[in-house]
Amino acid sequence: MSTLRALVTRAWPRETEERLAHLCKATLRDPDTAMSADEWMDAAAQYDIILPTVSDAIPADFYDAAKGKVRLLANYGVGYNHIDTDAAQAAGITVTNTPGVLTDCTADLAMGLLLAAARRLGEGERELRAGRWDGWRPTHLIGKKVAGATLGIIGFGRIGQAMAQRAHHGFGMKIVFQNRSRVDPDIAARYGAVQLKNVSEVAEVSDFLSLHCPGGEGTRHLIDTDILAAMKPGAILINTARGDVVDEDALFQALDSGPLGGAGLDVYQGEPKLDPRFLKYGNLVLAPHLGSATGATRAAMGHRALDNLEAFLRGETPPDRIV
Ligand code: DGY
Repeated sequence: MSTLRALVTRAWPRETEERLAHLCKATLRDPDTAMSADEWMDAAAQYDIILPTVSDAIPADFYDAAKGKVRLLANYGVGYNHIDTDAAQAAGITVTNTPGVLTDCTADLAMGLLLAAARRLGEGERELRAGRWDGWRPTHLIGKKVAGATLGIIGFGRIGQAMAQRAHHGFGMKIVFQNRSRVDPDIAARYGAVQLKNVSEVAEVSDFLSLHCPGGEGTRHLIDTDILAAMKPGAILINTARGDVVDEDALFQALDSGPLGGAGLDVYQGEPKLDPRFLKYGNLVLAPHLGSATGATRAAMGHRALDNLEAFLRGETPPDRIV
């Protein structure tokens, strides 16, 4: 067992905590809350390895303070926009993530949000629970048909393709997509998918628009007033990527004055704080960042982070090294 000291910032699935205990001197932080900036600065001086999550707001001065002490940030999660990878690299800190293991679960949730928003399940459940349901009638809670509709996918990586697979082969949807680089037409053909030039072209033809791009500065407010205005009347936006990808002011405006018909959202700007305006709209299906939240997936994420840690401890390049 290594004598290096590791800090796990949030509670992990028990089996992965047990595996970690055999690898190095690990501190499992308690309580299970987000670390404060002061705790991050203390951690910079105390730990060789830190295993953070998407819920960690790492202060900008952490990296300088951690230089020469912290050697690895092994993120528990695939998205790493909460880590300043340039600053980490400059401080000599290796950064890893957990790609691949949460693809299916995240695509499942995106498809679930799409179906729930299309068929107005949130509105229906609230009506029923409040005792307001007055029985079946031909004009009650009329939704949007999914089969045959066009799904636009922004970001055609692993999760975008898993979404295309479900939507095309499971629900008979037509698929168009945008991706930063050209996607091999043979791969696109697996899902009957067509790559368009840019986000705007995809927005214009889509009945549903689902976001699967990474977060961070490169995609901040990618879905802005112009893109929302380009969407078809009644179109539905799905976001299981990162909150910052959508300009929330523009989203509320598009819900108020069209063309947006609704949205299914799992992520928010500044989460877990939620803009109170979200609660005003009945046609939003809102989930609290549940994309990867199944037992098997959360365990797989922990094991993948530990695979990276083990490789690092052996002096090897971790398999999911980012910098
Ligand atoms: C990730 O891994 O990036 C998710 O958002 C959290 O599961």
